[in-house]
This record gives sequence, C-alpha cells and structure tokens, in this order.
Amino acid sequence: MGKNKVYIETYGCQMNLADSEIVKSILKDKGYDFTEDLNSANVVLLNTCSVRDNAEQRIYGRLGNIKKIKDNNPDTVIGILGCMAERLRKDLIEEKKIVDLVVGPDEYRRLPEFIDTAYAGEKGIGVKLSKTETYDDIIPYRKDGLSAWISVMRGCDKFCTFCVVPFTRGRERSRNLESVVREIEQLSERGFKEVTLLGQNVNSYNDNGRDFADLLAACAVVDRSMRVRFTTSHPQDLSDKLLYTIAEHENLCNYIHLPVQSGSDRILELMNRTYTIEHYLNLIDKARKIIPGVSFSTDIISGFPTETEEDHQMTLEVMRKVRYDGAYMFKYSPREGTKAYKMKDDVPEEVKGRRLSEIIDLQQKISYEINQQLIGNSEIILVEGFSKKSDEFLAGRTDTNKVAIFPATEGIRAGDYVKIRITKATSATLFGEVEEMVSLSETKVNKTG
Ligand code: 5AD
Ligand code: SF4
Repeated sequence: MGKNKVYIETYGCQMNLADSEIVKSILKDKGYDFTEDLNSANVVLLNTCSVRDNAEQRIYGRLGNIKKIKDNNPDTVIGILGCMAERLRKDLIEEKKIVDLVVGPDEYRRLPEFIDTAYAGEKGIGVKLSKTETYDDIIPYRKDGLSAWISVMRGCDKFCTFCVVPFTRGRERSRNLESVVREIEQLSERGFKEVTLLGQNVNSYNDNGRDFADLLAACAVVDRSMRVRFTTSHPQDLSDKLLYTIAEHENLCNYIHLPVQSGSDRILELMNRTYTIEHYLNLIDKARKIIPGVSFSTDIISGFPTETEEDHQMTLEVMRKVRYDGAYMFKYSPREGTKAYKMKDDVPEEVKGRRLSEIIDLQQKISYEINQQLIGNSEIILVEGFSKKSDEFLAGRTDTNKVAIFPATEGIRAGDYVKIRITKATSATLFGEVEEMVSLSETKVNKTG
C-alpha cells in the first residue's frame, strides 16, 4: 500500500486557496494523490491563517479533532502550512505533539522532502522566507470549473501596524507578466470564464517596470469572454492609469476592493495606512467618474487601540459617504510581533463588539438600499450553475460581484452570459428574469507572444 493520499484543508484568504493549488501541483508531481476523506489520508495538511486570533483558535480546535485520527493511525503525517507555520514555527511542534510538519509559504517546493522526513520519524520544519520565490513556473492544480484564482504577487511591504502578513508572508515580489498571461491562456482553453488576480497589495505589482495596469490590460485581451477581477488594492497606490485601464476593457470587472480600515485620520495614522480620509474619498470620486457604475467593497476594523466613540462615528460616516456594496468587518485582534501589539489593547471587548454590530447593521442597510435601487435594471450575469436552494433556479454573478438568482431556462447553462431584469432584491442577493443571452464579446484575441 502506498502512503500517498493527501488531504488538504484551507483557511483564511484567497491567497491561501491559490497556495493550496500550488502545493497540490508540487505533490502531484511527486506521485501523490488527493482525498476529500480525512480518515483515509496518509498526510493531512492544514493551510493556515494568522490574521486574527480567532482564525488561529479555529485551527487549534481542528487539530484537536485530527488528533483522533492520529490516535487510530499513528503513521498519519500531520502538517501545518501557511501563516501559522511561519508565525509559530518550532513552538507549534513542541506545543502540539501531533504536528509533524511546519512549512511556511515560501518553502512549498520542499514539502515532499519534509513529508519524507516525517515518514522517517523526524519533524520537518521549513520556515525560511524568500525575497524571490513566486512559484512562477508551477501550474496550480485545479479542477475544471469557471472561476480560478491566480496569485500575481506575494508578500507585503506596507507594514500596517495591526497586520501580521508582512511577517508571515515576507517581502513583496511580483510574478513575471508573461507567465500570468500564459496561465490565463491555458485557463481559457479549459473553458474557465473568470480569473481573479491575487496579491496582498496588487497595486504595487512591478515586473521590470511593468505595473499592475499593464498586467491587467495584458490579461484582459487574452480572451474577451473571460471576466478578470483582482484583489486587494491599497488606497495609496491605486493609480489613474489603473482606473482608465479598467474603464477601457469591458471584461475587467467594475469592482474594486479598497480597504479603508477606519474613518478617522488619527487612527489611520496609528495604523500606518499612509492616507487620509480626504485622499480616500477623492479617490472614490475619481474612480466613479472614470468608471461609471463602479462598485466598491472594503475592510473595516473596529476597536483599534485608543479608538474613541468619535473615531468610531467617523468610520460610520465614511461608510455613509462611500456607500460600499459590501464590507468585511472585524474586531481588532492584537498580533504578536506587530507594532500595534506594543500599544495597549484598550478598547474593551464589549465596546469593540457593539461598534462592530453598528458597522455591520449600517452596511447591511446600505447594501439593501443599493440593491433595491437596481430593481428594474438589466444586469449581465455569468451563470455559475443551479442555485443552492433549488434546481428550478440558476445562480450567477454580476460584473460588480453580486449574486443573482433567476428561473432555470432551457438552453442556459453554467458558463453562459445572460442579461436579466432585476425584479427583487435583498441585501445579499438579486432576483430577476431572463431577458436574453449575450456574449461578453465574440472576439477571441489571438495569443500573445
Ligand atoms: N485585527 C483585525 N483585523 C485585521 N485585519 C488584518 N489584521 C487584523 C487584526 N490584527 C483585517 C484588515 C485586513 C483584512 C484582510 O483583515 O481589515 O484588510
Ligand atoms: Fe496587512 Fe496592510 Fe499588507 Fe494588507 S496592506 S497585507 S493589511 S500590512
């Protein structure tokens, strides 16, 4: 019996999802296979997240469950990958005796070697960060589908004072532009209809002077019937050139994830976010002028050290001014090693919680109002398949990333684009009726290079 069945569970951001596909590709090359059944796996890998304490606690909880598997079958290799591996290193192995492998985000090429070490009864530890590793030459292992993640850069040099990412994922480095384009060409040939370009701060993409706008433009022309999305943008680096590029290409989605984090300049300064709210709001205005109909989502942290009621009100105010389509909202969580960790975590837990609820309630109200205003409009949907609740309905997404549901109709399948008229809306979902089939563009541009 071979010891070659690997089970991988992925936590945290989309970068981790993309990394798990790179890990699978590396393992597949060495003859490993994958299983979705934890109990039949010889190797169990958790690709982990350290961004907030509750993410780490969840993974510790999961390790508790997995211990039973090791009790039944002591030969099973248990590995921690990703940010927690990087942050906790040897401690993880010393504290959690069941962990055999600890491999950080820049050491995945050596994973097969570390698994062999673990089979030989020793602990495998690889936590060096690299200034150059981008896994450029590795084609991620992906099942057929419509939508794919492509990581175009790794690491982050921003050092926001609350954030552990620069420590767990290391310095910023960009992939070669042609290699990203080639990956999209291959995805297009396999029938994928949407790619999301990923990086902690995609706006600082730089491949020998070619910036993120250049990369997006090159990706957009590969296949006009493929939607191209990207995340995440930092408000300091979002250039006019990028906005004009998005406006120019029909298949570059009119959707920008632009984390604001707080509405108070004083807090933004303590966070080392390097912009003011005035700069941020001007940027939003400019983007709306250059890209009509553009929608925004954001990240917000409640209860950063020293945050007063007045600072909190400023956050609610910026939300009312921008009117985000969506938001990811969090309570501040101190992370060891960051600059903010040295500040006193002085906003009481219940105050953080109450402020967070106010932020969530406001966002829900705004999302609802924005969606209500779409009733009567036509939207182009990329059909993803049947809706979660019923085979009588199809589900897909708008260009601005909203989920839309409509009655299943003969001849319409996953991967098609349809125009629907919106008839009903909640804060999270649009409902509509089919108007017509459309093609995002008939033109498939010839291969580059
Ligand atoms: N506490 C709470 N939220 C955090 N984020 C990053 N670090 C922390 C932290 N220590 C949030 C930020 C970031 C998103 C990915 O996670 O809002 O944009
Ligand atoms: Fe963290 Fe800031 Fe970098 Fe985002 S930009 S990954 S919040 S340090």
